[in-house]
Amino acid sequence: MLEQLKLRVACFSSFIVLVSMGTAALAEDLTFPQGTATPSETCGECHGAIYREYLLGVGSDTHSAHTRGKEGCAISLPAKVSSSPTAHASSLTETRGVNVKDFHCSSCHFPDPFSFKNGGANPKVEPKTAAASNGGLTCASCHLTPEGSIRASHAVKAPHRTVVESALQSSTMCGHCHGYAAPEKRVVGKMFQTFLEWQEDYYKPGLGNQQCQDCHMPRTLRKTAEDFDVPPRAVARHLWTGAHSRQRHLGSLSLTVIQPDEGKRLLNFEVANIGAAHSIPTGEPSRAVFLRVEVVDKKGAGKARKEWMFAPSYGNRPDDKAFVEEDKKRSNDEAARADAQGPHESSLRAGEERVLSWEPVLQPGEYTVKAELLYTIDRFQEKPLKEGEPEITSATLAITTK
Ligand code: HEC
Ligand code: HEC
Ligand code: HEC
Ligand code: HEC
Ligand code: HEC
Repeated sequence: MLEQLKLRVACFSSFIVLVSMGTAALAEDLTFPQGTATPSETCGECHGAIYREYLLGVGSDTHSAHTRGKEGCAISLPAKVSSSPTAHASSLTETRGVNVKDFHCSSCHFPDPFSFKNGGANPKVEPKTAAASNGGLTCASCHLTPEGSIRASHAVKAPHRTVVESALQSSTMCGHCHGYAAPEKRVVGKMFQTFLEWQEDYYKPGLGNQQCQDCHMPRTLRKTAEDFDVPPRAVARHLWTGAHSRQRHLGSLSLTVIQPDEGKRLLNFEVANIGAAHSIPTGEPSRAVFLRVEVVDKKGAGKARKEWMFAPSYGNRPDDKAFVEEDKKRSNDEAARADAQGPHESSLRAGEERVLSWEPVLQPGEYTVKAELLYTIDRFQEKPLKEGEPEITSATLAITTK
């Protein structure tokens, strides 16, 4: 094993190579002078399975158009896999076409080592390591402490210094970047408030105790460092499935079609958030869920249609067309694009059930009401729902109107 370690360490460009035979593996000599710009591959040399999850999404059904090349020295990876990189690994790589020169983005997209004491990323402070990083969150972005230790869940003996921090296994960890508005006050319905949605809507009222990791990093019993003589542990899989995962959407919302009064045209659609400990959709303002309803007659011909959109709002108030002209004075078109689609339904908060009513114009007769919930990652596209877009869930109801 040590022979192997020596060979591998020889190809790390980033290490001060201090490995000698004997106590090498446990001497905690390994340091990471490049800070959070340390290539993830460096860690992947020893933590192979976690690296494959992070870099290639192995073990998930993440499907995005994002790509991510390897950096540093070559380590053994499969030729092809059916999943795609996690958003953390591919964030702001060249393929995303985003201007990363705007330094305030870096506080979350390429952070310096952070401490939990500071209460969330501060977009007003420019991270020093941003320029050297290669367009994604690295292992070190989340694990390196300002003191140069690796934050861990277990007290282990490792070739690098580790420090057990309980926050690593709690929502506090994710909230550092996924709170965004923190420590400002919560604005219900606004984009980028996932942590506050979890804290205020789910955790505090007692809907449940699950932390972000419990749903987004399902655990497996295995060795974390494959080539070392260490016991199997409960290891969180580094998959972070979100908007690009069908597994994630399935079971997130429920939908029931109700005709309250026999023979009447009034229809109710009850939509409930049953699977997420925060709003659906959450985070990015571009995410949206559509409720699409069609009423067909006995021959299958469409007689009435309606569509609602659920999405986070861009600003401190609901999106609204009335503000589009005012928005055009801004330096970018984001607010205008969001307001142009308002008013719309706000996201469904954790545990929320919402009833939407509609009275279609129909002749007396027999009909089938077909309702479906569909997810889109970009509501600002001209056609946000592609043909054959997989649905979250659907429901049908046969009705008679008099
Ligand atoms: C030379 C091999 C090697 C390299 C390189 C390496 N590690 Fe480790 N690491 C280990 C070993 C061995 C352990 C102890 C594993 C155990 O006992 O389960 C460990 C433990 C850890 C733990 C704690 C595991 C736990 O169960 O809590 C974390 C977190 C970690 N490493 C992250 C990293 C990160 C991040 C990097 C890169 C910046 C890195 N490691 C680089 C070998 C390595
Ligand atoms: C250092 C900042 C940071 C931390 C800490 C962090 N994230 Fe993220 N996360 C991001 C960024 C930035 C993105 C967006 C990446 C992109 O799409 O460009 C993201 C995206 C995601 C996504 C979207 C995935 C997709 O495919 O759309 C999920 C889910 C997620 N994070 C979950 C978590 C969880 C759970 C934690 C805590 C264990 C966490 N994140 C910790 C910065 C962070
Ligand atoms: C977005 C933040 C984030 C990134 C990026 C990240 N990790 Fe982790 N890592 C975590 C969190 C959170 C945990 C603790 C999960 C738990 O057990 O609840 C963790 C746990 C671990 C553990 C200990 C096993 C465990 O589940 O307790 C190891 C080892 C580890 N990570 C290595 C890596 C390596 C190697 C990379 C890069 C390939 C990496 N991590 C990238 C957040 C991150
Ligand atoms: C009870 C399980 C559960 C917990 C706990 C949970 N989530 Fe989620 N999360 C989900 C589900 C389900 C979805 C998919 C919802 C959808 O279809 O929009 C999701 C989606 C996401 C996304 C995807 C957004 C995107 O645009 O890709 C992010 C980011 C995210 N969660 C972050 C977090 C963070 C941060 C926490 C902790 C503060 C957390 N989640 C806690 C279940 C959970
Ligand atoms: C406070 C932390 C933070 C800051 C600052 C920040 N982001 Fe993000 N960014 C995130 C998180 C978290 C996500 C994932 C949110 C989600 O999908 O729920 C994200 C997602 C993204 C995405 C993915 C969008 C998609 O559709 O998948 C892009 C692109 C992005 N950010 C670019 C930027 C740019 C450019 C800036 C600077 C102008 C910036 N971000 C500033 C945290 C931040």
